[in-house]
Amino acid sequence: MKGIILAGGSGTRLHPITLSVSKQLMPVYDKPMIYYPLSTLISAGIREILIISTPKDLPLFERLLGDGSQLGCSFSYAAQPEPRGLAQAFLIGESFIGKDSVALILGDNIFYGTGLQATLQDCINPEGGIIFAYKVHDPERYGVVSFDASGKATSLEEKPKNPASKFAVPGIYFYDNAVVSIAKKINPSLRGELEITDINKVYLQKQKLQVQELDSGTAWLDTGTFTSLMQAAQFVQVLQERQGVRIGAIEDVALQMGYINQKQHGSLTSPFIKSGYAK
Ligand code: G1P
Repeated sequence: MKGIILAGGSGTRLHPITLSVSKQLMPVYDKPMIYYPLSTLISAGIREILIISTPKDLPLFERLLGDGSQLGCSFSYAAQPEPRGLAQAFLIGESFIGKDSVALILGDNIFYGTGLQATLQDCINPEGGIIFAYKVHDPERYGVVSFDASGKATSLEEKPKNPASKFAVPGIYFYDNAVVSIAKKINPSLRGELEITDINKVYLQKQKLQVQELDSGTAWLDTGTFTSLMQAAQFVQVLQERQGVRIGAIEDVALQMGYINQKQHGSLTSPFIKSGYAK
């Protein structure tokens, strides 16, 4: 299965912080934001990853992450000149995806939970699509999924004014190869974007969409505003310092997955002794 990280957009809700640099390069405590979704994909077992960003920011991501071989992975890069929606990732990434299935993760979504890795590994190479549902107090800010009494997903709406449920759809999606042709057929929304929610609606209509609830034991953090960016950083700091876990450390995840060995891990992290990251 291939993976795409969408790290585009203009980050207007974080201006002036993101006036000159991409939001997904902003620090979340001790790492650039993109390390978190990247480590999520790698921990799911996805090694071939396309990073999509603006033409201006793309060279910065390349400088940060290289070709991925240092992590036993393969990274490639593609530009999204205008923010035309999440679903455009499948058009930009068409040749990268080829005949494979593909997972999409948003470059500003942070996930953390002990059972999460196993949950995501079970989503590899799905038949149809797999998305998640996560209970929030402000569903109107997200794609919203509602369920019938038997727990079957019945509807999906993008940022509804009057949400039919409290379940937001987080920014990680798993699809079979049909997603490319579906993306070609959907039309831009009123905000001028190819909506991921419209892709999910097609899968739902075809009865090929699985919606799995992410329980409250999993943290799904937003980093889109000053406050939520700060809170995400504090979350990472508290867990790392208090519990001794490491969140979003791409080198650790590559080691744990067996993509690199201890020696390679050592040479990757030893340049970061001064900052304490290597500790
Ligand atoms: C996007 C999606 C939305 C999803 C959210 C998750 O929203 O359109 O369905 O719930 O990501 O972060 P946007 O980032 O475009 O506001």
